[in-house]
Amino acid sequence: MAEAQARQRGGNADDGSAAAEDGVRYEVDGEIATITLARPDKRNAQTFATWSALARIGESLPEQVRVVVVKGEGPSFSAGIDLRMFKPEGVPGQGSFSTAAKIGDAGFEQRIRQAQAGFLWLRRPEIVSIAAVQGHAIGAGFQLALSCDLRIVAEDVAFCMKEPALGLVPDLTGTKPLVDLVGLAKAIDICLTARTVHADEAMRIGLAEQVVARGDLEQAVQDKIAQLLSTDRDAAVATKRLLQGASHRTLEEQSVAEGIEQAARIKALFG
Ligand code: ACO
Repeated sequence: MAEAQARQRGGNADDGSAAAEDGVRYEVDGEIATITLARPDKRNAQTFATWSALARIGESLPEQVRVVVVKGEGPSFSAGIDLRMFKPEGVPGQGSFSTAAKIGDAGFEQRIRQAQAGFLWLRRPEIVSIAAVQGHAIGAGFQLALSCDLRIVAEDVAFCMKEPALGLVPDLTGTKPLVDLVGLAKAIDICLTARTVHADEAMRIGLAEQVVARGDLEQAVQDKIAQLLSTDRDAAVATKRLLQGASHRTLEEQSVAEGIEQAARIKALFG
């Protein structure tokens, strides 16, 4: 069994910002990686340093990891982007939207792509990502939860896509998974009203796989991990790849893809 490995991440070697600024803790224990947003006093508000830290975790994730848990410390999963970004003084070492507006469209779009890299890797076929969400998941917090494959939520969960209320669009990869999960009409309703979606609705419309009492969230995630790890690793990767491709393919194309994946499985198992 792989030896438990744990390490703390703090700071951003790339941009030289203050050590605690990314607010991300990261631990690997065998096949399980846990990413914790760890600025509870600021409701786990996110900055560019947070997203760089997430991207670096994705880049260096050990091959043995099969499940990635994303969670937040304290009362809220995440209150979204750090509101200091909206002020002229911005976030120390990371600027503000006022400074970002001056770097030009291409430069800013590039910066967004870098931020999005912190979210996109959570959909890799090689892993299953689980967001454990309690309390507020607002804006970037909602999008981080949406970037995971599964959402297990506490009864007090409060999802809110607040960006349009602030004059922005959701740009941290959340719009597609939201539409895929709840459909276009419901996604328009949720985003263009910036209303809050609570646990019962989240469960009903497919935003959450499971709702549990706040005190049971950790155990529910552990139980799900045990279920996920009980299946064959290579079959799980191939099956996730198939499921992810299903919505882009015709039934005929999907059937062909199933055959190709199965042939590879049979060869690996019995060849
Ligand atoms: N950025 C920076 N600091 C924040 C943020 C944030 N997004 N959210 C909360 N904080 C800070 C507060 O300023 C406060 O700091 P202080 O103790 O130094 O005064 C601390 O976190 C606690 O916040 P409270 O508001 O007291 O906590 P409460 O539990 O009552 O409310 C809630 C939580 C609802 C999340 C509230 O803090 C809130 O509305 N935050 C802003 C949400 C927001 O608009 N996010 C941007 C979304 S858009 C996007 O992400 C792109």
